[in-house]
Amino acid sequence: MAPVDVPVALLGYGTVGAAVNRFLHENAGDIERATGHRLRVVKALVRDLKKERDFPAAPGILTTDFAEIADNPKLSLVAEVMGGLDPTHKYILRLLESGKPVVTANKQLLAQRGAELFATAQEAGVQLRFEASVCAAIPVIKVLRESLVVTNVHRILGIVNGTTNYILTQMELGASYEEALAEAKHYGYAEIDPTEDVSGADAAAKMAILATVAFGSRVTLADVQFEGVEHINSAHVAAARQMDMVIRLIGQAALVDGRYDVRVSPALVDRAHPLASVEGPFNAVMLQGDAIREITLEGPGAGGIETASAVIADMVSIIGTTGAGFLHNDACWRTLDRLPAGELRSPFYMQISVDDRPGVLARVAECLASHSVSVARLVQTQVEGGATLHVVSHEATYGAIEGALEEIRGLPESREISAAFPVISQRGISELGWT
Ligand code: NAP
Ligand code: HSE
Repeated sequence: MAPVDVPVALLGYGTVGAAVNRFLHENAGDIERATGHRLRVVKALVRDLKKERDFPAAPGILTTDFAEIADNPKLSLVAEVMGGLDPTHKYILRLLESGKPVVTANKQLLAQRGAELFATAQEAGVQLRFEASVCAAIPVIKVLRESLVVTNVHRILGIVNGTTNYILTQMELGASYEEALAEAKHYGYAEIDPTEDVSGADAAAKMAILATVAFGSRVTLADVQFEGVEHINSAHVAAARQMDMVIRLIGQAALVDGRYDVRVSPALVDRAHPLASVEGPFNAVMLQGDAIREITLEGPGAGGIETASAVIADMVSIIGTTGAGFLHNDACWRTLDRLPAGELRSPFYMQISVDDRPGVLARVAECLASHSVSVARLVQTQVEGGATLHVVSHEATYGAIEGALEEIRGLPESREISAAFPVISQRGISELGWT
């Protein structure tokens, strides 16, 4: 069946806007297979037509005239990825009033003027979606609005700014504050005005949006107490390390006796706490609620393609919830064969008890080698009348490990194989230890 053509426009064609257009071009087939629709950027608003772009738009797409978007009745939806309060605010109002659904990545606008924008959308009967405004690629708004609608989330704890998390983790590695901020700007994590990131204002806007959605009561930027990372220096980072802690910019929102508190500040986080391992431009949001206890969402929190993925997710959600949508199927578009048993690869840990006699280790190694299982680490411990071999292999197939263990079981000196587990670790296999 021919795909449904969906002409869309972008307000802004910078880090995020160009990435949206790139995605829509390069992943058009995936979107079409999943939704039956082909999204096509037909206009994108910019200030400077001559500027070099990461993903150049086709001729005639870029415009400096908002009317070319506002007055085009054929547009199915518009994504606002230009940022700022003005003129963005009036542009979005005009689009909503004329019946065009809008997707926005603009947390400052929502956290400061959201009430009017959402009231306008409601009155016009069109959607205003904002997944990309909080934590880029992490679908936290969808989870709060749809999946957790009855769970009474009463506390949110999170790292919601990628730039400052990048700065803090780079400082742990020895970079200076200035070097790390320059890199965050270079990678496209920082806001157009990076003081919003480092002052905590960006995180505060995001926490206001999260609290609004979670608590069902409007929280604005002015309701959030915030402090940033401008005063964090290497001495703070070193002091935290000495206490086996790290410094992270933490957003907190809590309901206490029917009242809310939302704040952002640097905090010392124990290394054992899940938020301590959130590094670089990654974000994480821990949601606590009555039924769910705790759910943590973690992923890339800034960057062009990371944010574009959320913008496109919102576009697809609008298509999926307009008219009959496309959710009457389960997105199966192909038939994949199952991987034959034993072909999946992994490193393995094996615990093998043997008689402690000359040549036993060599015979065990031969069994492993005959199945192309390569040993990464080996430790032998003595037990009553014998020895236990702890072996960690390099990556091998499940089938090869089973074959090797079968042979080892058949050795006259073999007593027991008490463990054969896949190893799941980010660490290099040679760093794994168990003694
Ligand atoms: P950006 O690279 O500076 O891009 C902004 C775009 O908007 C540019 O194409 C610019 O045009 C255009 N623009 C700005 N003001 C305009 C005006 N008055 N009239 C016409 N065009 C205008 O910014 P970005 O990083 O893509 O961020 C865009 C939005 O996404 C912001 O709201 C930001 O908070 C949000 N966001 C960004 C990220 C991220 O990681 N970058 C993540 C989540 C959300 P020119 O190119 O001609 O200057
Ligand atoms: N400047 C923001 C950040 C972009 O660093 O988190 C994502 O909203």
